[in-house]
Amino acid sequence: MSDGVHIVEMGPRDGLQNEKVAISVEDRVAFVEALVAAGLHTCEVGAFVSPKAIPQMVGSDQVLRTVSHLPGEFHVLVPNEKGYDAAIAAGAKVVSVFASASEGFSRANINCSVAESIERFKPVVARAKADGVKVRGYVSCVLGCPFDGEVKPEAVARVARQLWDLGCYEISLGDTIGVGTPTKARQLLRTVGKEVPLANLAMHFHDTYGQALANLYAGLEEGVRVIDSAAGGLGGCPYAPGATGNVATEDVVYMLEGMGIATGVDMQRLLAATNQVSRLLGRPPVSRVATALNAKQGKAART
Ligand code: HMG
Ligand code: MG
Repeated sequence: MSDGVHIVEMGPRDGLQNEKVAISVEDRVAFVEALVAAGLHTCEVGAFVSPKAIPQMVGSDQVLRTVSHLPGEFHVLVPNEKGYDAAIAAGAKVVSVFASASEGFSRANINCSVAESIERFKPVVARAKADGVKVRGYVSCVLGCPFDGEVKPEAVARVARQLWDLGCYEISLGDTIGVGTPTKARQLLRTVGKEVPLANLAMHFHDTYGQALANLYAGLEEGVRVIDSAAGGLGGCPYAPGATGNVATEDVVYMLEGMGIATGVDMQRLLAATNQVSRLLGRPPVSRVATALNAKQGKAART
């Protein structure tokens, strides 16, 4: 348990992709800068997807270019070769492809079947290998699908294995609608761990039903050491009805540091980053730790 945990910060991408308030490129850059200053050196900063599908991510090329001088590793989503072309033109060094364990979400999110999505990713990963670009792979709906309901761990393991065999260096398991509970999360990781080494798995648990920290704890006990989270508990996918925020980075950091697990994150600076984006969105952060610290320090985000 005492090994360090690596946090992959999702705020600027997953956190903002579902927000009604448009956040300018300048403000997105400032958010990334604040996160990096807090010690979150691995950060997903944008998505090269259809601007009709996700207008919030328009300008991801400018965000990526502007932050690339900062000390860190900046990830962007790409769903196909068109997205890859744009990401590379903007200087991407790490791209993330995203598949689903369930057919219903795959169709709603990226307008193709799971098998078709894997076919689309093959040329992306092959080109990335040739270009020296790292590829991360997501599997969504690992603990339930808003369209298909229950998702079997074996179905997740199959897709995770396919992404691993393609050459993704890490497979992030998304509880997209936050329906998992610790026993199911544990079972999932045991099943997927037979196909992909635990050291190469990440947990991307949304907190819709308030279970994310408990699920992460179960995953840590299983040996997973990479956690995706978003400052302020922002996040959600417009194609997953009812899905709300990612687990909040400050809640994760508080839990881990309290357990003696190093994160390298400065809580005060993280709180500043969370408050900064909360002011832009016009509402206080939903995370428990940000709420508690703001109350204690008398500096709630002014809206
Ligand atoms: P499609 O309609 O099947 O694609 O969409 P198409 O190839 O038929 O093209 C249709 C139009 O999109 C064309 O433009 C293309 O040029 C354009 P038009 O001729 O109509 O003007 N297009 C693109 N434009 C920019 N960048 C591209 C691109 N590709 C095509 N890369 C597509 C397929 C995947 C593009 C679309 O469905 C899409 O963009 N979906 C967005 C999906 C998305 O971003 N979802 C949220 C992120 S995933 C997530 O949040 C889950 C995660 O957090 C993990 C978890 O929580 O589980 C990762
Ligand atoms: Mg997500």
